[in-house]
Amino acid sequence: MTSPYVQRYARPAIALHWAIALAILAGAVLGLSLEAIPREQRLPWANLHAVLGTLILLLTLARLYVRATHIPPPLYDRDWVIALSKVGHVALYALTLALPVSGLVMWWLRGRGLDLWAFQIPSPLAVNRDAAKLAEEAHEIVFWIGALAVGGHVLAALVHQFVWKDRLLERMRPA
Ligand code: HEM
Ligand code: HEM
Repeated sequence: MTSPYVQRYARPAIALHWAIALAILAGAVLGLSLEAIPREQRLPWANLHAVLGTLILLLTLARLYVRATHIPPPLYDRDWVIALSKVGHVALYALTLALPVSGLVMWWLRGRGLDLWAFQIPSPLAVNRDAAKLAEEAHEIVFWIGALAVGGHVLAALVHQFVWKDRLLERMRPA
């Protein structure tokens, strides 16, 4: 029997889902490695992390635009699974916005701009060490909540695919 799940997300939605997932993975590895880099060599790596994070923010905004203009394939399942998926997806979108925003605010409050090599974007905020500390804590907390949410998301995808065998992954599989 053909699973009703095989209706696929729109191409740009699939491309953005995987580009953002890979960029978040790279950003997380780089972010977690920053502390291990000697302080005097850290700035270019922290800047790379900040630029990658800002790119994730822009890609997420593009993704929300695609989400608003391409109706996703309908979810077919028990009501509780659909409700949980909706809450999970909204949480994932919120976290992929909150993570780079908290990072950018922290960065700007430290007086740092974005160094895009060919040109610089200066910080629009006045330096405030105490507020930067709060943003740093927010960035870390949002990251760990996000890591839990992504873990739950991947687990849910695997349960659909291999326990319920409803071929959910087809919907998001790159062409
Ligand atoms: C950082 C990593 C990831 C993030 C932030 C993320 C985020 C999201 C979001 C927000 C959606 C909802 C799309 C929408 O309806 O607009 C989604 C859907 C989906 N994701 Fe992910 N995802 C990530 C990684 C993964 C991985 C590793 C897998 C595979 C194991 C996966 C499989 C899926 C599938 C199959 C759907 C479609 C679900 C459905 O149709 O109900 N995702 N993802
Ligand atoms: C989705 C994108 C992002 C991810 C996944 C991410 C992830 C992380 C992680 C895991 C850490 C280590 C936290 C810890 O110490 O436990 C970190 C630190 C950091 N992030 Fe991000 N981040 C993102 C975006 C950004 C952005 C856009 C900026 C700045 C513009 C930024 C600036 C920083 C800085 C400066 C640190 C080091 C904090 C310190 O000095 O200890 N991040 N990030």
